[in-house]
Amino acid sequence: MATFQGGLPDLTRPRPEPGSGPAVYVETYGCQMNVYDSQAIEGLLRDEGYNLVQEDLGADVILLNTCSVRDLAEHKVISRVGEIRMRREKAELPQPVIGICGCMAERLGTELRKGPRKVDLVVGVDSYDTLPGILKDLTAAGHAQVPEALRTHTGHRNDAHYVAPPALYPTNNSHLVTIHKGCDYKCTYCIVPQTRGPQSEKAPGTIVEEIRGIVAAGGAEVTLLGQNVTAYKWSDELDFAGLIEKVAEIDGLQRIRFLTGHPRDMHPHLMDTIGRLDKVCPWLHVPVQSGSDRVLRRMKRLYTGAEYLDMVDYARRVIPDVTFSADIIVGFPGETETDFQDTLEVVRKVKYDQLFSFKYSERPGVPAARLPDDVSVDEKKRRLAELIKVQEDTWEAMAGQQIGQVWTAVVEAEARRPVGSWRLRTANNRKVVVHDADLAVGEEVRIRVTDWANTTFVGEIPA
Ligand code: SAH
Ligand code: SF4
Ligand code: F3S
Repeated sequence: MATFQGGLPDLTRPRPEPGSGPAVYVETYGCQMNVYDSQAIEGLLRDEGYNLVQEDLGADVILLNTCSVRDLAEHKVISRVGEIRMRREKAELPQPVIGICGCMAERLGTELRKGPRKVDLVVGVDSYDTLPGILKDLTAAGHAQVPEALRTHTGHRNDAHYVAPPALYPTNNSHLVTIHKGCDYKCTYCIVPQTRGPQSEKAPGTIVEEIRGIVAAGGAEVTLLGQNVTAYKWSDELDFAGLIEKVAEIDGLQRIRFLTGHPRDMHPHLMDTIGRLDKVCPWLHVPVQSGSDRVLRRMKRLYTGAEYLDMVDYARRVIPDVTFSADIIVGFPGETETDFQDTLEVVRKVKYDQLFSFKYSERPGVPAARLPDDVSVDEKKRRLAELIKVQEDTWEAMAGQQIGQVWTAVVEAEARRPVGSWRLRTANNRKVVVHDADLAVGEEVRIRVTDWANTTFVGEIPA
């Protein structure tokens, strides 16, 4: 469902018979925003009678919802297109219509219609409402006739905000809800402002309605999504703190998470609000990217290492049981060993529950692309390995101190092995596995920590 600011889509108009149309398979790469968008795309297509399938081989249409954040992410998709084509050829099946959606569509546009791996359709992040119509033409007999101009739909529109239908997540209690799109920060390494366009807010009324729909469908937890949710600003009176207050008022909703916070927007009044609202989970994903002020300045992150650490200290004071996770880039142009050691120091000090670390990947057209990519591939690999090791050691030391603690956790799914094991998550985003228990998905239980392994705690139900 595409919505346009000011209202939800008309749900009363007649629809084609569900599942009667062409079979579509959607494959998702990249961040949670793409996961959400893929659900929105599926919703749009299902409403128009398309048959959503879970396996690519039988599909008439394959849509790859793509990511451009690093070079490797794009390469994966291009080789996937080749693999799909070859697999069909080998199976002597007709070729599917292949469409590229998402960030690569925005970045590369008509380029994706050229060369040996060319695709049939390119649809960028603000143009998904064109999909049902254009796929009808492309899947009809003689699709080769569809003119070139109809095969690429890109460019940013401020008014289009997609709403994914409130599907239930069988393995995860959190329903994604995108609250805004785009990004107005200009971190020098990052392609996102190009691919997602300027920041534009979904209306608070639309967000609240969407979450009410999720609750009505049985959902208990939402994750508010955006590249910088903490920069949400609908009006002078309604910023992100105001939005979470509104969302927290929704009856039946039990937990609110959010991703991603920009350290610079973590104002004391926002942290106070997070600490005060019981429904808001005490977990902050606040990417630090680097611990060196020199690198942070060249990245245009707009904070220093010391300011970041002050923010963490403040959060620890006002948000009970708060935990942190972050993203870090190693090998940014000009990063010296001393800069890198500053990053390790921040990691040791913060004691993150989870860290997502990446080797710097130069993206065409971003400001940092003008700087020489002068940290060698081997050196980036070495720094990445060292960072991961420091994080593991820090996490293990922290985890060891948790033995014997009693936490409240929600059952998310039955674990695959061994039988009778369950996967749970605490409000502050700690993963716990419990063996030999009789539990049910969605249930909230008390557990006692008995052990840990590989970023997961092991717990038992106290007698
Ligand atoms: N809006 C979020 C996340 C953006 S993309 C934020 O501001 O933090 C997710 C992560 O990818 C980033 O946090 C960053 O660590 C990483 N990333 C972005 N561009 C990159 C690049 N060119 N090379 C390597 N990693 C990159
Ligand atoms: Fe990229 Fe920076 Fe925007 Fe995050 S805040 S999406 S890293 S430009
Ligand atoms: Fe990738 Fe686009 Fe998300 S570049 S990280 S899919 S916003």
